[in-house]
Amino acid sequence: MHNKLVNPYSYPKPYKHSVAVPVRELHAGYREQILCHFLQLSEEDRRLRFGTLTPDEVIRHYVEQLDFNKDTIFGSFDAHLNLIGMAHLAYLPKVEGKPYAAEFGVSVLLEGRGQGIGNALLDRAAVHSRNTRVETLFVHCLANNKTMMHLAKKAGMQVEYAYGDADAYLKLPPANPGTIVQEAANEHWADFDYALKESLKRSNEAWMWFLGRSLLGT
Ligand SMILES: CC(C)(COP(=O)(O)OP(=O)(O)OC[C@H]1O[C@@H](n2cnc3c(N)ncnc32)[C@H](O)[C@@H]1OP(=O)(O)O)[C@@H](O)C(=O)NCCC(=O)NCCS
Repeated sequence: MHNKLVNPYSYPKPYKHSVAVPVRELHAGYREQILCHFLQLSEEDRRLRFGTLTPDEVIRHYVEQLDFNKDTIFGSFDAHLNLIGMAHLAYLPKVEGKPYAAEFGVSVLLEGRGQGIGNALLDRAAVHSRNTRVETLFVHCLANNKTMMHLAKKAGMQVEYAYGDADAYLKLPPANPGTIVQEAANEHWADFDYALKESLKRSNEAWMWFLGRSLLGT
């Protein structure tokens, strides 16, 4: 467990994690925004996210190949509707006699960190996994990725280290009526939040247009 006095968390926390962070399921129409999100990650963040140096071209190919029918992509949006955080829940092929598993990958832009977004994306992916009969949720990351390790352990994941890599596993109990309602409620809340931000954004744009015309005296 990290010591926050020794290793202070440098970005501000405008609200606590107990305040819900809205998380939406994204469809293929968000591909461009997903690409834009990844391209904003620094070289080091890309290495942490994908486990290796990841140039723009590789990211472009990865985003083009995302299969929204097979996998599930989650997103969190800021007040300007920028995709501030996103997670990819990739379903692994079913293997006879082995638990059905999915792999979770996540990234949050620098300006959104430390506000519970990563945690909310992991929570949402875990509930969705249960509701889609996944029995094991898996995160593969570099062993020096202290933040991801912290998030994984906080979620109850078991972590195994080998050759500079770490694999975190979460054994998931089956879905129940509570998990179904929880996911539906999250989705509704996230849709509502998005609609609200969209209408605020439109009204701001309208005011900017109006004020611009007034200043020009047209
Ligand atoms: C990992 C990542 C998604 C976390 O996103 P985030 O929105 O900042 O996460 P949260 O705010 O929900 O939680 C961060 C937690 O890590 C803790 N933390 C931050 N820095 C830490 C460190 N160096 N060591 C240990 N814990 C740390 C925070 O205190 C917080 O814990 P708390 O909720 O118990 O206070 C983000 O840092 C990121 O995008 N990193 C680059 C990509 C990556 O590493 N992806 C994971 C591999 S798939």
